[in-house]
Amino acid sequence: MPEVRFLPDEMTVETRPGETLLDAARRLGIPLVSACGGDAACSTCRVMVVEGAERMAAPPPDEAVLLAPLGPDGGIRLGCRAIPEGPVTVRQLVIDKDDIALTEKRKMTQAKMRREKQAGINITDQKTIKN
Ligand code: FES
Repeated sequence: MPEVRFLPDEMTVETRPGETLLDAARRLGIPLVSACGGDAACSTCRVMVVEGAERMAAPPPDEAVLLAPLGPDGGIRLGCRAIPEGPVTVRQLVIDKDDIALTEKRKMTQAKMRREKQAGINITDQKTIKN
């Protein structure tokens, strides 16, 4: 069974077949933050794969969508979706309340940018209709 080393806690766990990093962390008592409860909606469970990225199962579509703003192949995975297939080392990226607050702020900024972009499209559409 794949062995996962969690940093910065320096705790290692053998995962069960098909088990996500989050589920393995919970089983071991590692406090991996999961604000949405594991629904691939918040990204607070994200980790950086420090070693063994090639031994992780490919990200499912919902994980890929959430991590898309970070760019391809950044070594970042969602703990609630990433499934190790061999020995890996991961580092938690959201550790304390400040990290969670930054994540929420970033999400709000992205949502605001999406609304502004949509408003711009709507204005352009209205101008096109008038002309
Ligand atoms: S726990 Fe929210 S995205 Fe993983």
